[in-house]
Amino acid sequence: MVSDEMRAEAKRLKREKDAVVLAHYYVTPDAQELADYVGDSFFLSKKAATLDCKTLVFAGVRFMAESAKLLSPGKTVLMPEPSADCPMAHMVQKATVDAARVKYGDDLAVACYVNSTTEMKAWSDVCVTSSNAVKIVRALPQKNVLFIPDMNLGHYVALQVPEKNVILNDGFCPTHEAIELAEVETARREHPGALVLAHPECGDWVLRESDVVGSTSQIIEAAVASEASEFVVCTVHGVIHELEARTAGTGKRFFFPATTPVCPNMARVTAEKVLACLRDGTGEVGLPDESVIAGSTRALDLMLDYAK
Ligand code: 13P
Ligand code: SF4
Repeated sequence: MVSDEMRAEAKRLKREKDAVVLAHYYVTPDAQELADYVGDSFFLSKKAATLDCKTLVFAGVRFMAESAKLLSPGKTVLMPEPSADCPMAHMVQKATVDAARVKYGDDLAVACYVNSTTEMKAWSDVCVTSSNAVKIVRALPQKNVLFIPDMNLGHYVALQVPEKNVILNDGFCPTHEAIELAEVETARREHPGALVLAHPECGDWVLRESDVVGSTSQIIEAAVASEASEFVVCTVHGVIHELEARTAGTGKRFFFPATTPVCPNMARVTAEKVLACLRDGTGEVGLPDESVIAGSTRALDLMLDYAK
């Protein structure tokens, strides 16, 4: 629980430092409580690019804070937990991209999920998030699309956009990949009327059993809008905070796969660390090497353009 003192201190420090706190739905509920904006990766990227403030405190994992810095290089970007990293963000080799470029030439686009390092973004033509990947891949002029690093989101996109030749890489999110079909089937049996909501980082075995596939924000919106009263949520448990807040008083109930999905990196981002970061200005994210700034920024800017 965030105390009144912590809330008051956060408010005072934000004013004093001209700071805004952004948080992803997967960080601890207390860290979300201290945030000015809580959202999915795409919403937070847009906020980072457009907010008028001196400092951004990014309660999330490293690729999110690095994207914020690229989209808003004039701001100081701070991470409450600088070691919070997304393992999938490292799961592609440059050789994979080079080989596809040789094979397909000009008729290849490299679509890079934002869950990636700045370098990988610089190898790519356009970035995507889970909320806009289908829309952007469909709109690309090229027929062949190498999708990096996530094979599960890539596979989902390939099914939605059959007119494209989507080439997959073998990266994955360990947390979403671990959700098993048997867990979803059991949850459905225990809650027969429930709507199954899944993040596209889940394996195909989960997505095929799901009623709605979407980003964290899209999952939350679907639950809020639905007539159903029970939901099986196949994504990281952190979304429960917003789900319960947005459906308070409706009697809606949320269930997760039996081995509750937790992102260990996001889980280390706490309210205490957000406050310490605001107070001491620690965890600053630097601009990347000169050689990758232009390419990675272009890929992110193109995503914001396509997703309009
Ligand atoms: P969103 O695009 O829904 O924010 O998901 C990001 C993420 O890391 C999911 O694991
Ligand atoms: Fe990365 Fe998975 Fe954590 Fe998302 S949930 S930040 S993809 S490890």
